[in-house]
Amino acid sequence: MHHLHREKLFSLFDDDQNGVVFIQGAETMYRYKTDYEFPFRQESNFWYLTGANEADCALVLDLKKEEYHLFVPKRDAQYAVWHGYVKTKKQYLEEYKPDHLHYQNEILSVLNALKPEVVYCLNDEQAEFIEDLDRGFTVETEALEDALTYCRVLKTEWELDQMREASRVNDLAYEAVMKAIKPGMYEYELKAIFNKVQIENGLLQDAYNGIFASGVNASILHYVENTDQINDGDLFLMDAGFECNGYAADYTRTFPANGKFTETQAGIYQAVLDAHNVVIEAIKPGVKMEDLHLMASRIMMEGLIKLDIIRGNIDEIMENNIFALFFPHGLGHFLGLDTHDVGGYPKGVDRIDRPGIKFLRARRELLPGMVVTIEPGIYFVPAVLEPAIKDPEKAKYLNTEKVTSLLGFGGVRIEDDIVVTEDGYENLTNVPKEISEIEALMKG
Ligand code: GLY
Ligand code: MN
Ligand code: MN
Repeated sequence: MHHLHREKLFSLFDDDQNGVVFIQGAETMYRYKTDYEFPFRQESNFWYLTGANEADCALVLDLKKEEYHLFVPKRDAQYAVWHGYVKTKKQYLEEYKPDHLHYQNEILSVLNALKPEVVYCLNDEQAEFIEDLDRGFTVETEALEDALTYCRVLKTEWELDQMREASRVNDLAYEAVMKAIKPGMYEYELKAIFNKVQIENGLLQDAYNGIFASGVNASILHYVENTDQINDGDLFLMDAGFECNGYAADYTRTFPANGKFTETQAGIYQAVLDAHNVVIEAIKPGVKMEDLHLMASRIMMEGLIKLDIIRGNIDEIMENNIFALFFPHGLGHFLGLDTHDVGGYPKGVDRIDRPGIKFLRARRELLPGMVVTIEPGIYFVPAVLEPAIKDPEKAKYLNTEKVTSLLGFGGVRIEDDIVVTEDGYENLTNVPKEISEIEALMKG
C-alpha cells in the first residue's frame, strides 16, 4: 500500500525535473547514556512512503524516473546475537520491494550517479547531511514537507481502514474500563485494563501517553501520572488510544467512577455533550475548524448560563472570550500517523490571536478524506479561574460563589474521531456517550 503513497507524492512534482527526495528514517533511541532501548517507532513520513519498520534506514526517490531507492544498515553478527537476525539484501527486497536496494554507506555513490539538480529534504538536519557530502547539490527543505503534508492529510481507503481497526479495538478497551471501574481503584489499574485489551488485540504501540484522570486531575490537560486513588463521587476522564500500523485512535470519555452522575456532573457533562453532538452533525466538506470551535464554545457557554455558573448575555460572553476560561484548548486536530497530525495550518494561515482559539491545532476548510478529532471540554482550572474571579471585567460574567465551589470539580471532555466524507462524516468512535447509555453500560 505504501507504493500508492509514493505515487501520490510523485504526482506532485514536475516530471521533467531532475530532482530527488532524500529522507532518513528513525534511529534507535536510548535512555540517556544507557543501553536501554526505547521501543522502535518509525518516523511517520518515512513509514508513510516505505512501510519499512526498521531503524537506521534512508530513502531516495528519483522524481524523474519515479524510482524508489531504499538504504538499509549493514548489520554484523553481533547485531544478530542481540536482535536475533541479520536480514539479507534478498530479504529486504522481498519485504519492502524497493526498485533498488543499497546499504547506508552507498548514499553518496547513488546520488553521484543520479546527479540531481535539487535534493528535497525534510529538515535542516537532513539537509546538512547532504550538504556535508560536499558535492554541491542544491538542497530544498520546504517543498517536501508541504507535499507530504498534502498527501498525508487526505487519507486513502487503506489508511482509513487502519484507523477503523485502531478505533474498533479502542471501542473495546473503553468499554472494558467503563465496566471495570470502581471507587477505591487506582488510576493506573484502569490503564492496565485498557492496555491489556489493546495488546491482546494485536495493537502494541500507544499513540500518545494515556490520561487516566480522576476528580480534580481531569482539569490537568496532560495529566499522565495516573497514580491517584479514585474516590466515590469522582468523575473519571480517560483520553487514550493505540495505533494500528501507525495510524492512531484518540478518544476521550468522561464518566462517574461509581456509575451514576450527580446532578451537577450531569449538567456540566450535558453542556459538553450538546456541543460535541451539534458540532459533529455540522461536519461536511467546506466547513472550517475555527467556526466549529466557536460553535462548540457558544453551546457550552449557553449550558453554563443555564446552570447559573456564568451569567449575562451570550453574545457579550462570547465577545469577551469568557469561553476561554473554561475551554482552554482547541476543538480538535487532524489525526493519522501522528496523533496531532500534519496539515493543521496550510501555508499562509496563521494562528488566530484570540484567547481560547489560539491553541486550535487545525485552521482550514475540511475536505473529504480528512480525519479530525472533535473534543470540546469544560474544565475548572484553579490557575485560570482564581485570577478571573479577582478580575472585575471577567468576574461580572461569573457566579463567583458557584465557580469557587467547583474549583475541585476537575473537568469533562468528550472526544470522537471523525472522517469527513463527500456528503458529511463517518464517526469512527463507537463508545457510549449519552448519560443514560453510560449509566446503563456501567450498571452491567
Ligand atoms: N490526547 C491528545 C489529544 O486529545 O489531543
Ligand atoms: Mn485525546
Ligand atoms: Mn485529541
